Amino acid sequence: MSKRQYNIGVFDSGFGGLSILKEIRRVLPEYSYMYLGDNARAPYGTRSFDTVYKYTLQAVAKLFEMDCNLVILACNTASAKALRNIQQKDLHKFGPDKRVLGIIRPCTELAHTFTKNKNIGIVATKGTVTSQSYEIEIQKFYPDLTITSHACPMWVPLVENGEYASDGADFFVKKEIDSLLEQNPNIDALLLGCTHYPLLLPKIRKYLPEHISIIQQGNIVAESLQTYLLNHPAMEQSLVKNGTIQFFTTDSCETFNTIGSHFLQEEIHSQSISL
Ligand code: DGL
Repeated sequence: MSKRQYNIGVFDSGFGGLSILKEIRRVLPEYSYMYLGDNARAPYGTRSFDTVYKYTLQAVAKLFEMDCNLVILACNTASAKALRNIQQKDLHKFGPDKRVLGIIRPCTELAHTFTKNKNIGIVATKGTVTSQSYEIEIQKFYPDLTITSHACPMWVPLVENGEYASDGADFFVKKEIDSLLEQNPNIDALLLGCTHYPLLLPKIRKYLPEHISIIQQGNIVAESLQTYLLNHPAMEQSLVKNGTIQFFTTDSCETFNTIGSHFLQEEIHSQSISL
């Protein structure tokens, strides 16, 4: 009898995780992926700890049910507010081989490479900023770095509503960049600590002084997953290798296909799912 084979699940509150999936597929094209966007309940960034935990757990359970063995929380808010609880309290209920990984740790491990003058700015959702997950993780590895986090509550709605390239978006991007720089004018690197923000990249670049570099998470997460699979051969061998991808959304498939295809720069045919 042939061994059962599994997919890699990628979860986000909405479209943002597609910016991570894009890089994961570039680095690891051979695996089979299932992307789940909880668009109907996005944004998560302003929701309570308990709500984000509850929603994320439902999504993770669904992906396990759909034959995923490994789920990547391609969402900083979920990684900050739900990952630890799921790993500690829930994972064992799904079976001994199931794993959930977040996207904050891989970025914090490399934080010292982002900056020359030891000042890093982080833009993220209110939930991620309030959790202080980045500060706590980075301080563990690099106590000499100064981290200045700033919440940008309007940025995710701009992306979820397809307004990320509009003139109106300029106002909110400039406002938050100015406010971050007021908090700490010395930053020389800005980490986009929310997976939705890469879609605002042209506008962020426009308002950020040239000498400040912008760090995106996609590539970092993809390379970290590659290392994880090398170090976990049993997991690696359990994965389907046929290079396929399926998309699931809790809201309108039509909207997901339109906005999602901008993220991935390819056509998307999503399926509807309820959690
Ligand atoms: N994209 C998610 C993140 O990285 C959250 C967006 C939201 O739902 O607020 O934090």
